[in-house]
Amino acid sequence: MKWHEKFVAVDHSRWSEVERRACASSEQVAILHGNAVDQLSSLPSSCVNTVVTSPPYWNVRDYELDGQIGSEPLEDYVRRLVRVFDQVKRVLVPGGSAWLNLGDTYFNQLITENGLPPKTGWKRCKQLSLVPFRVAIALEDAGWWVRNVVAWRKTNAMPSSVRDRLSNTWEPLFLLTNCERYYFNLDAIRVSHATSDAVERRRAEDGSNKGKAYGKADLRKWLSSPRHRATIDGLQEVTRRPNAPDPVELAAYLRTALERKGESIKWVAAQIQQPFERTRHYFRTDRIGSRLPPPETWEELSTLLDLDGTFDDAMAVETDVNIFRNHPNGRNPGDVIDLPNARGSEVHFAMMPQELARWALRATLPSGGVALDPFAGTGTTGAAALELGGRFVGIDLDPELVIYMANRFEATMAADWSYRSRIKVAHRKNAAGSPALR
Ligand SMILES: C[S@@+](CC[C@H](N)C(=O)[O-])C[C@H]1O[C@@H](n2cnc3c(N)ncnc32)[C@H](O)[C@@H]1O
Repeated sequence: MKWHEKFVAVDHSRWSEVERRACASSEQVAILHGNAVDQLSSLPSSCVNTVVTSPPYWNVRDYELDGQIGSEPLEDYVRRLVRVFDQVKRVLVPGGSAWLNLGDTYFNQLITENGLPPKTGWKRCKQLSLVPFRVAIALEDAGWWVRNVVAWRKTNAMPSSVRDRLSNTWEPLFLLTNCERYYFNLDAIRVSHATSDAVERRRAEDGSNKGKAYGKADLRKWLSSPRHRATIDGLQEVTRRPNAPDPVELAAYLRTALERKGESIKWVAAQIQQPFERTRHYFRTDRIGSRLPPPETWEELSTLLDLDGTFDDAMAVETDVNIFRNHPNGRNPGDVIDLPNARGSEVHFAMMPQELARWALRATLPSGGVALDPFAGTGTTGAAALELGGRFVGIDLDPELVIYMANRFEATMAADWSYRSRIKVAHRKNAAGSPALR
């Protein structure tokens, strides 16, 4: 069993409870109508693997729904989202994750606090509110790990007439997790390497791969990356210390030797003719600051501090032929994704592009797992989850959208699905003929 498998299993017997709570449900889909916090509170714990969601942005649009999120003062908005995410954390399995897409807004004459244009404090006109980051920090405080801020670059971003700043062309997509170790299938979203192994190797051999250390042999001993070393000396000159001890352990050992000698780090630096700023790292016993001395320095330290040879074997250097090998499944795609924004439809004007949800779910939805969107709208996350063979729990406050989603996923529903009767009040209210209704 791989380490993460024990974290991510969803007990599918919980699905029956999820289904029972839903107003439209099937083996694959459960749609709940109502306020995200209330509906999430009704779900059993640990019944979801991952979340992809885009809540209403702060102060951007009025959904004209009682209990909607987005039109309250900024601090209340952040607090309400944190409350939703407290419940999200509870319904996620240990090792689960959540992708959170939020856009930003500028304060202006129309975006008011308590009915007045903001003039004082930091909430001044023209100020970028930085809401997505305020939410992310509040979520960190509430116990989430923020693992990435992915820049979703909108390849069809709206042109802007602003003249005193840059136009806004990207939005953050936060990757949040409820544990340090969690399910993440990087292989599923790897992209092709820019060059092949053969090209890399040829460049190193013929010297055309000119890295920052090219021609600077004195830099060689400070560079640990085999690729940098190869740009100086070609493929033959790669050195490794595969058995080197933990730098913290080695630093403690060096400190003891230094104390025995009755000397200071400054004295060592002067003797080995290296800057104090570099030398002191060999003696730092904290994980952030400790560094292994390079092989040549180790020899000097050994003589200078009368070391007893305990670590000599472990610090021994192996010289090897460097082999450039790209990861066979492709490279990490990085934290910028280029995608066009979805076109607003008559059903919903703030839809997420399905490709964005699919991309995120490929990495965090295990096979046959359950995806959740507590602000589901038209069910974009659900459509992507079903495409990948998963299940979907969608919540929305808007009865029209709940019916829209139920229609959208009707093919997965059992013959006797009964969402219409369960939300018939909403259905009647909209009987005037919204395109979302049938
Ligand atoms: C930005 S839209 C989500 C769009 C969705 N990602 C899609 O692709 O269609 C936000 C949704 O949150 C819903 N909403 C607003 N306040 C809510 C609340 N308190 N609880 C649940 N849903 C809410 C709105 O009805 C809206 O559909």
